[in-house]
Amino acid sequence: MIDLQGVTKAFGNNHVLRGVDLTIERGTSMVIIGGSGTGKSVLLKCILGLVAPDAGTITLEGTDVTKTDRDAFLARFGMLFQGAALFDSLPVWQNVAFRLLQGRDRLPKPEARDRAIEKLRRVGLKADVADRLPAELSGGMQKRVGLARAIAADPEIIFFDEPTTGLDPIMAGVINELIREIVTEMGATAMTITHDMTSVRAISDRVAMLHDGVIQWTGPVSQLDSSGDPYVAQFISGSAEGPIEAVR
Ligand SMILES: Nc1ncnc2c1ncn2[C@@H]1O[C@H](COP(=O)(O)OP(=O)(O)OP(=O)(O)O)[C@@H](O)[C@H]1O
Ligand SMILES: [Mg+2]
Repeated sequence: MIDLQGVTKAFGNNHVLRGVDLTIERGTSMVIIGGSGTGKSVLLKCILGLVAPDAGTITLEGTDVTKTDRDAFLARFGMLFQGAALFDSLPVWQNVAFRLLQGRDRLPKPEARDRAIEKLRRVGLKADVADRLPAELSGGMQKRVGLARAIAADPEIIFFDEPTTGLDPIMAGVINELIREIVTEMGATAMTITHDMTSVRAISDRVAMLHDGVIQWTGPVSQLDSSGDPYVAQFISGSAEGPIEAVR
C-alpha cells in the first residue's frame, strides 16, 4: 500500500535519512524501531508530506504521493503526533472531532460531539473530559485524546508516533489492543513508531529497524528475537554493548 524507495533527507549537514526502502502491505501493522534521533518521526512526516524528502520516491497504491490531491490523500490518514499536538484553545471533543467539523461533508455539531465521545471511550476516557481544555488533562490523557482524534474519522491508514509513551502499563496495554483491533477489525493499515518493546510485540505484523539513515533490518515480528542482526539484538536487549553507540 505504501512504498518508499531510496528516500533521503538532510537538514544542513545532518544526513538523517540516507536511502530508506520500505514497503507496508495493506491491512498490516508495521512498527518502526530505532534509537532516539535516528529519523523515525522525520520518516513518517515525509510520507505525510509534512517534510519534503531530498530524493527518492514515496507511493501510495502506486501513485507518487507528491502528485496526488493533498486533501483526498490526507483524508485517508489518521495521525497521532509524538507530542499529541492538540489545539490548546479548543475543548477536548472539538480536538477529537476536528476533521469531522471541517469541509463540505462536515457533520452537524451534536453528531460530531457524539462521535468524539464514542472515540474517547475507545481510548479509556470518560465523557466528562469532552468539555475540558487539553491543559486541564494529564500528559497521558492528552496522549489518549490525540489517539481518539487519530481514529475519529475511521481512517484507512493510521500513523502512531509513540502511542504508549507516558502511559501507565495498563493503559499502554489498552492502547496496544486498540491498535491491534483497528488493524484486524477495521482492516486499516498501520505504521507505528515506538520504543516500547512490549508494544512492538503486541501490535506488529512486521518490524523495521531504522539505523544510520537506512532500514537496517526488516522482518516478521516472529523473527525479531532471532534476526541475527547485531543492531536489532542490541536494541531489543537494551544493552550498552554493541554496534550502536550510546552517545550521539
Ligand atoms: N525540522 C527539522 N529541522 C532540522 N532538523 C530536524 C528537523 N526535524 C528533525 N530534525 C533532526 O532530524 C533528526 C531525526 O529526528 P526525528 O525527530 O526523526 O528523530 P526520532 O527518530 O523520531 O527520535 P525520537 O525517538 O527521540 O523521537 C534529529 O537529529 C533532529 O534534530
Ligand atoms: Mg520521534
